[in-house]
Amino acid sequence: MFLSLPSHIDTFNMRNKIVAGNWKMNLDYAEGISLFSEIVNMVKDERKGSQIAVICAPFIHLNSLNQLSAGVVKIGAQNCHQMESGAYTGEISAQMIKSAGCEYVIIGHSERRQYFAETNELLAQKTILSLKNQLTPLFCIGETLEERNDGSYFEVLKKQLQEGLFNLSKADFLKIVIAYEPVWAIGTGLTASPAQAQDIHFFIRNEIKIKYGADIANATSILYGGSCNPKNAAELFAQSDIDGGLIGGASLKSRDFVDIIKALND
Ligand code: 13P
Repeated sequence: MFLSLPSHIDTFNMRNKIVAGNWKMNLDYAEGISLFSEIVNMVKDERKGSQIAVICAPFIHLNSLNQLSAGVVKIGAQNCHQMESGAYTGEISAQMIKSAGCEYVIIGHSERRQYFAETNELLAQKTILSLKNQLTPLFCIGETLEERNDGSYFEVLKKQLQEGLFNLSKADFLKIVIAYEPVWAIGTGLTASPAQAQDIHFFIRNEIKIKYGADIANATSILYGGSCNPKNAAELFAQSDIDGGLIGGASLKSRDFVDIIKALND
């Protein structure tokens, strides 16, 4: 069956290398502009190759960052609402995010799952609306420390994939980026070892292969997130199934963030 590829996927078996920063609820307006400007200038001067750099910022920054991005660093939001529009006071829709110049949106970050009770079903709705508005979802999955220790983590990850993403058609699934973020590694300084991360990334890619076939599995970018920093990035990114990173704390420092981008092989 012929599938039309999204424009950012060059060939069927080549996947994008991506480093995305997640600023979370940090930086006021002026701080955000200042940090982003530094990042754009450094990426412009230092990036070699075709790695994609993304900053996922709080909503108030998005439009201004888009004006400053010069196409060098892509912009993403950290969440969107699951409905198209209407009486949802305080919420932001996928269409609004797109209109601010974003190309990406994080869906299902563990902090949203934990503090805002977001379920796989809800995240599936957000994913569909993001795709409908030509946003690339950075869809997060990951197990808690308890799930890692009791050995249920493969089941947990499988369920997150099945309920959150595997309702998509092949053509839509090709537009997704997955981020594996073990909850126990987020903001804790505890990083999954490269071997632990590779094991999980291989598992995720294999689940995609079982569901959608090898071509689609090989074309899907799977990022690692959780205490990734300039010291450990190169070894993580050298793993065959790790296609980049989703970076929290280290994305708040321009030097660290750009060094992580540079740790990504072309
Ligand atoms: P840290 O890099 O601060 O551990 O955060 C990871 C993360 O949650 C990115 O979304």
